[in-house]
Amino acid sequence: MKSVNLLMPSRWWTPQPSATGRRNLLDIGKEDFLFADRFKGLRAKFEYKSDVTKCRLVGVTSSIAGEGKTLTCAFLASNLALTGRHRVLLVDMDIRKADLTRGMNLSRHPGLTEHLMGKATLSAIIRNTEIPALQAIPAGTEVPSPADLLAEDSLRVFLKEIRGRYDIILLDTPPVLPVADTITMRDQMDGFVFLFRTSYTPVGMFRQAVEEIGEKKILGVVLNGVEPQKKKYIDKYYGYYYQQKGPKEESVA
Ligand SMILES: Nc1ncnc2c1ncn2[C@@H]1O[C@H](COP(=O)(O)OP(=O)(O)OP(=O)(O)O)[C@@H](O)[C@H]1O
Ligand SMILES: [Mg+2]
Repeated sequence: MKSVNLLMPSRWWTPQPSATGRRNLLDIGKEDFLFADRFKGLRAKFEYKSDVTKCRLVGVTSSIAGEGKTLTCAFLASNLALTGRHRVLLVDMDIRKADLTRGMNLSRHPGLTEHLMGKATLSAIIRNTEIPALQAIPAGTEVPSPADLLAEDSLRVFLKEIRGRYDIILLDTPPVLPVADTITMRDQMDGFVFLFRTSYTPVGMFRQAVEEIGEKKILGVVLNGVEPQKKKYIDKYYGYYYQQKGPKEESVA
């Protein structure tokens, strides 16, 4: 494996208890200044990369479960939309878990699966969000074999339609190694943002998954869960800037 491009290290964020007990994925940066700041850097790098490579339809994926795909996908999309420069669409392509749908407090039905099965129109599955330039499509009803549904021609037609309506489309996909869904739709994506969670993901699995997706398809890798004080390589390259304290930093554990 040649070296894949590092998009940005993302700090591990320690959530504050939420008053309602229900947290919206789009709100997380409000609690942690440094975490939000990392995402502004990620957004800028992503904008540059996607512009240069003309990538509009971008999957967010990783090797295994729990590396931060859904959180990164949602927060990157909201950061992009908040610039006012792009019309952004988020799609919950993880039909098995639908964590993006749940995390944004969107109703699951009708969603992507209903549309792909011809039971709902495109306009019926698009939801507005609190951010005017950001819309989202929920996963829809769970189906027994998502990979089979995603292999059908209806996915191609759907992707072609949304491509014409938005500047950037971010798709939250399942991990590459445990299930076939992401590999099934791989060729229809312009590119992927790949997550690697530090001190969690076995490097061998990361290498295998990168090989399966294909290095050329990967816009960059986000190192998730970097603890700035403990990581010498981050200190070396990001040093003082990475460790600056923001206004809310002291209230975060
Ligand atoms: N940088 C971070 N700081 C704090 N918590 C995080 C961070 N990244 C992810 N998490 C938390 O880790 C858990 C897994 O994250 P997430 O659901 O985004 O991962 P995923 O890769 O989408 O998982 P899956 O493969 O199961 O869909 C969630 O509870 C999420 O809030
Ligand atoms: Mg997920």
